[in-house]
Amino acid sequence: MRILSGIQPSGKLHIGNYFGMMKPALELQHKGDAYLFIANYHALTTVTDGDSLQKATLDVALDFLACGLDPAKTVFFRQSDVPEVTELTWLLATVTPMGLLERCHSYKDKLAKGIPASHALFSYPVLMASDILAVQSDVVPVGRDQKQHVEVTRDIAIKFNQRFGEIFKIPEPSIRDNVAVVPGIDGQKMSKSYDNHIELFGSAKATKKRVMQIVTDSTPLEDPKNPDTCNVYALYRLFATEEETSQMAEQYRAGGFGYGHAKKALLEVMEREMGPHREKREALEKDLDYVNDVLREGGQKARAAARETLDKARAAMGLR
Ligand code: ADP
Ligand code: TRP
Repeated sequence: MRILSGIQPSGKLHIGNYFGMMKPALELQHKGDAYLFIANYHALTTVTDGDSLQKATLDVALDFLACGLDPAKTVFFRQSDVPEVTELTWLLATVTPMGLLERCHSYKDKLAKGIPASHALFSYPVLMASDILAVQSDVVPVGRDQKQHVEVTRDIAIKFNQRFGEIFKIPEPSIRDNVAVVPGIDGQKMSKSYDNHIELFGSAKATKKRVMQIVTDSTPLEDPKNPDTCNVYALYRLFATEEETSQMAEQYRAGGFGYGHAKKALLEVMEREMGPHREKREALEKDLDYVNDVLREGGQKARAAARETLDKARAAMGLR
């Protein structure tokens, strides 16, 4: 079973990204023939500064490798190393009805956020279809917001196959419904755009500062507290073992345990999980040749798969 997923390089990753997207993506390498790529062509629809894009692309690569991506198990690559997907995008565009793209929520949401309407922003789902169909992926794990794009991909593939013969596998979306929304320091969904995030690889000082800013209520130290409404506890349980989590819940309910104590415990479990990843990341930063080799080799593998599909599609359409 082939599984493909992509991540836009959009700056420093935070704890919400880690639990919501990275960890599930890293589990895929044990579930099948996994492909994971950094969607830098897609990012061009919103990132307009070349240096920022380059840096964000490298950051995502470092973050994933530091957190356990194994290049022997996952084909890890940059989208722009597989230019075949852009040619395939054009072929797919010829069978893509305008109405299909006009219905996409993500496009409308981006316009509502003030992102200027461009042809690329509008045809974003066709490029995504090309990523998926080029490597003949069976399953596409995505967040709920991307489900519609996988449905668009299926529609495009079905239409293409009806017109030109059975070229593409029809992919299935796999929606990450079981991952909880990670709250930010203010209790809303953690997001860069709300500036309520805790960076995954921030400095010890910056992380501590952020944790100390987590909003709590004003229950006095000695009084019993409700863990289920507390932002500190919500973050603690993501990093802690079950036993540690129920122990902290008991301490909350018993009273005499303050939010300062809970924050200290949170910093400890975070460091326990992220410390080894940080060390690995620092080592990788000193060995960028290795990182680039991983991406280049991944790109070559993905490219070979995409070339094969593209040649079939070209031939079927009369481009011999
Ligand atoms: P941001 O909101 O910070 O801009 P993105 O929209 O770039 O984050 O999210 C990238 C991925 O990380 C998405 O696929 C989403 O599923 C996941 N993600 C982001 N924030 C959270 C969160 N607070 N909880 C769970 N998952 C999240
Ligand atoms: N659009 C996806 C996102 O913003 C990223 C992406 C691009 C993708 N191409 C893909 C995800 C192909 C899965 C498969 O999260």
